[in-house]
Amino acid sequence: MAAINLSSLLLGVFMLILFNGSNALSSNYYDQTCPMAEATVTSAVKKAMLNDKTVPAALLRMQFHDCFIRGCDGSVLLNSTRKNKAEKDGPPNISLHAFYVIDNAKKALEAMCPGTVSCADIVALAARDAVHLSGGPSWAVPKGRKDGRISKASETKQLPAPLFNISQLQQSFSQRGLSINDLVALSGGHTLGFAHCSSFQNRIHNFATKQDIDPSMHQSFAASLQSVCPMHNKVRNAGANLDSTPTVFDNRYYKLLLEGKSIFTSDQALLTNPTTKTLVTKFANSRDEFEKAFVESMIKMSNIDGGGQEVRLNCRVVN
Ligand code: HEM
Repeated sequence: MAAINLSSLLLGVFMLILFNGSNALSSNYYDQTCPMAEATVTSAVKKAMLNDKTVPAALLRMQFHDCFIRGCDGSVLLNSTRKNKAEKDGPPNISLHAFYVIDNAKKALEAMCPGTVSCADIVALAARDAVHLSGGPSWAVPKGRKDGRISKASETKQLPAPLFNISQLQQSFSQRGLSINDLVALSGGHTLGFAHCSSFQNRIHNFATKQDIDPSMHQSFAASLQSVCPMHNKVRNAGANLDSTPTVFDNRYYKLLLEGKSIFTSDQALLTNPTTKTLVTKFANSRDEFEKAFVESMIKMSNIDGGGQEVRLNCRVVN
């Protein structure tokens, strides 16, 4: 009896060391220190959405871009300084927006529980709320991330580009511990939001020497994109929605993808490999299967360790 107790005690100590060592996140991280943390973020997201329907898409993409560069450490939120051009000002991030929603949540949280809730956790919570408040699933967000102190615009080159083919996409995801299933499920984030012409002009102008348009695209769909994005487009904010229900988190993206009505080469690429194509078909046929897979992959992505060191007081500047 005593021997059993001793061994279970040792096991407990071992687990404690293991968990502390790996900085494990937990879904009840703020239960004692800031019990209103989640409700405060939700209310900031809700309030912003009332005035601007594009907020949820922006918040979801923000988390993806945060986690893919230096892990989920809030590095995407830091402003450039005189000496340093930050991620925010790297080319793929120029179109990120709605940073003020994170600022508003942070301000409220600092008044309530100073120095407690990290900016990286606020981004993860806001992305979850963005999905849920757009009619998508909800999930328990693991928390306890720390904020990083480094953010470099040059590193945003490491984000996957809309021109990527399937092996480039697969490589970009696997470098971050994400599988081909995660790639297909997370690409479903393109059920929300908008793209500027420059992000897909390769598919509708000079695609190949003898073909202006990517032949894998639905013809009249491609023609409609050409009309909003002419070759020498002068309208700064011209572009197209990523699916036909851009403010609703549903599985429409996959249905349209199968019809040749996706926006990026990287979306279309999901049909060029048998495994990814099977998954696209599965998600097009079942919103439920998509939601289950999306939640699982979001939790996985949000666990990419950023190795941050602090809880920033202002999400735009290091302490
Ligand atoms: C698989 C690789 C991916 C590529 C190459 C990619 C690329 C892009 C590009 C080029 C845009 C449009 C930017 C613009 O023109 O303004 C965009 C928008 C967006 N992406 Fe992705 N993306 C990828 C994966 C993801 C993932 C994993 C998520 C989230 C889970 C996501 C969520 C979004 C959202 C919500 C928007 C719309 C943003 C808005 O309307 O403000 N994307 N993506």
